Amino acid sequence: MKHWRIEDVAWDRFDPAKADPELVPLVKAAAMVERNGTDYAIYLNRVFAEDPDFRQAADYWAEEEVQHGDALGRWAMLADPSWDYLAAFARYKAGFKLPLDAEASIRGSRTGELIARCMVETGTSSYYSALADATKEPVLQQICRHIAADEFRHYKLFYDHMRRYLARENISLLRRLSIAAGRIGESEDDELAYAWHCGNEPDGLPFERAKCTAAYMGPAMAFYRFRHVERGMGMVFKAVGLKPRGRLSDLSAKAAWRLIQWRRHRFAARLAE
Ligand SMILES: [Fe+2]
Ligand SMILES: [Fe+2]
Repeated sequence: MKHWRIEDVAWDRFDPAKADPELVPLVKAAAMVERNGTDYAIYLNRVFAEDPDFRQAADYWAEEEVQHGDALGRWAMLADPSWDYLAAFARYKAGFKLPLDAEASIRGSRTGELIARCMVETGTSSYYSALADATKEPVLQQICRHIAADEFRHYKLFYDHMRRYLARENISLLRRLSIAAGRIGESEDDELAYAWHCGNEPDGLPFERAKCTAAYMGPAMAFYRFRHVERGMGMVFKAVGLKPRGRLSDLSAKAAWRLIQWRRHRFAARLAE
C-alpha cells in the first residue's frame, strides 16, 4: 500500500501567484529523474537476483518513485500549462541510460550498492524537505511533504537491507566512506543536469553539461537551510557506520554548509557568463 496517492493531493488549492518561477524548472527536472525509478528497479532486480524479499521491496520502491515524478510533473503542468511532462520524460529516457544489463553492482558489492542508495535517499529527503519549507505554494508544499516522508522511509529500507549485507560482506569503513563520497559527488553528473536539459530546453538544442549543471545546482542549493544539511549529514554518517550525532558530524555539516554556499555562488557566476 502506498502511503499517499496522487488523488489525495488538494490540486484545486493550486495558487499560480505563489508558484515561484525559480522553482518550476527544478520541479520539472526532478520529475524526470523520479519517473525513471522503474529503470533503476530493473537494475536492482539483477544485482539482487537471489534476494526475492529485496527485489519485491525494490519494485514497490520504484512505484513510489514514479508517483513522485507524476505528482511533480502534474504540478509543473499547472504552473506552466505549455509544458508536457510525458513528452519531456520520453526525451530524457531516450538519452539517459542506466546500466540495465549489469550482472553485479557498479559499486563493487551489494553493501556498496545499498550505501549508494542511502546517499540518494539522503539527498532526496533533504531536497524535498528544503523545497517544502521554501515554497509558499500550498499544493507543491503538500506534494513535497509527502515525497520527503517517502524518501525518509526509502532511506530506512535501504539502510536495513544494507546492515544485513554488511554482516555478510564485511566491507571496511574506509571503503564505505569512499562509496558514499563517490555517490554524493555524482550528484553533479549527467543524471540531474540532463533532466534539467530535457525538462527545460527546447528539443534540438544540444545538451551542454556545465551550463545545465549550473542551472540546476545553483538555484537548488539556494533552497537549503542549515538544518536540512545537518540532518542529511547525520544520515550519511549513520549509513557508513559512524555516530550520526557528535562533534565529527557537526563539523562535517558546517563544512558541507560552507561548501554549498561557495558552490552556489560559483554556479551563479558560471550562469552569468
Ligand atoms: Fe523520490
Ligand atoms: Fe526515494
